[in-house]
Amino acid sequence: MGKITSIDLFAGVGGMRISLAKAARRLGLYDECRLYSEINEYSKSTYEANFPETKFIKDIKSVQKSEIDKDIPDHDILLAGFPCQPFSKAGVSSRKNLNRAYGFDDKDQGNLFFNILEILKIKKPRAFILENVQNILTVSQGKVFNKILKELRKYYFVPDPKILDAKDFGLAQRRCRVYIVGFLNYNGEFKYPEPSFKKVKVKDFLDKKVHKKYTISDLLWKSHQERRIRNSNRGKGFGFRLTNRNEKCTRTISSRYYKDGSECLIFRGKTRNPRRLTPREVFRLQGFPESFKFPVSDLQAYKQAGNAVPINVVEKVCIEVLKYLIRKKNRIINAA
Ligand SMILES: C[S@@+](CC[C@H](N)C(=O)[O-])C[C@H]1O[C@@H](n2cnc3c(N)ncnc32)[C@H](O)[C@@H]1O
Repeated sequence: MGKITSIDLFAGVGGMRISLAKAARRLGLYDECRLYSEINEYSKSTYEANFPETKFIKDIKSVQKSEIDKDIPDHDILLAGFPCQPFSKAGVSSRKNLNRAYGFDDKDQGNLFFNILEILKIKKPRAFILENVQNILTVSQGKVFNKILKELRKYYFVPDPKILDAKDFGLAQRRCRVYIVGFLNYNGEFKYPEPSFKKVKVKDFLDKKVHKKYTISDLLWKSHQERRIRNSNRGKGFGFRLTNRNEKCTRTISSRYYKDGSECLIFRGKTRNPRRLTPREVFRLQGFPESFKFPVSDLQAYKQAGNAVPINVVEKVCIEVLKYLIRKKNRIINAA
């Protein structure tokens, strides 16, 4: 069996890595993740619980340019779902309210893309797979995204990025994300995966028995309803969203879901308060396997699941990337 190596940057809890591993298995390949980088201690503990003994770098910014070659292992595919807050709708609007910089001007998180670029330039992996929010396409009138593409295309063949929605890939969650893949060597046109349109319902992802702590309190339920009235009087959004078990999908579950569950409250009949999704249900709606461990509080688990990539989609993207690489019978596939 051939081997494919990777590094997992901005790893969160390893959604990209799980996706690549699944894709590799489907194609009869063996995968080896040689490094992950994650600055958040709670995410790291979840990552470690699932993938012990992978080489680790906490803050990717701590790796000086001159040390990249030594500190970052050689690899075939660079994976990075880089932080989206400086580019997301919610992130941009809260930064504007606080008079803080957003996009590339966010000096803390906005320019992490350039750390990825430096690694690509020096380590020259055969391919990369990046993921981010849709809003990155339009933030700062599209200038951020144009710059990203322009820089990547100086060194890599980068087909036009694609927006894919988790709900079209067998997950009962609407989650549109931008995928950017690139290849060191051109090997013909690359095609992003076609949606499977597998028919699923929200109930397929729900627990059979749910603890009563997930039912929202009378106070929270009242405040959700009052906010909805206030919003509608001001012509603003809809506020909370009641989701019926038989619906095809939930709204996008964000990393802020722990706050009040407004993106998705499960309807439990007119006379009962709705409930939040459990953390396991959110991981399931992201395509994580049942065996996935998250030894953290509910609050951290919601953040981690809401930040993660939808496995089903990334797995399909990875399959296409691997096929593209294999097609050329290139050097990444070593005889086992
Ligand atoms: C959008 S999340 C990625 C989630 C991941 N793709 C998954 O499926 O779990 C971005 C991650 O980057 C991490 N991060 C932010 N700045 C970082 C830095 N300087 N070095 C390493 N990780 C960082 C955040 O803590 C967060 O977990």
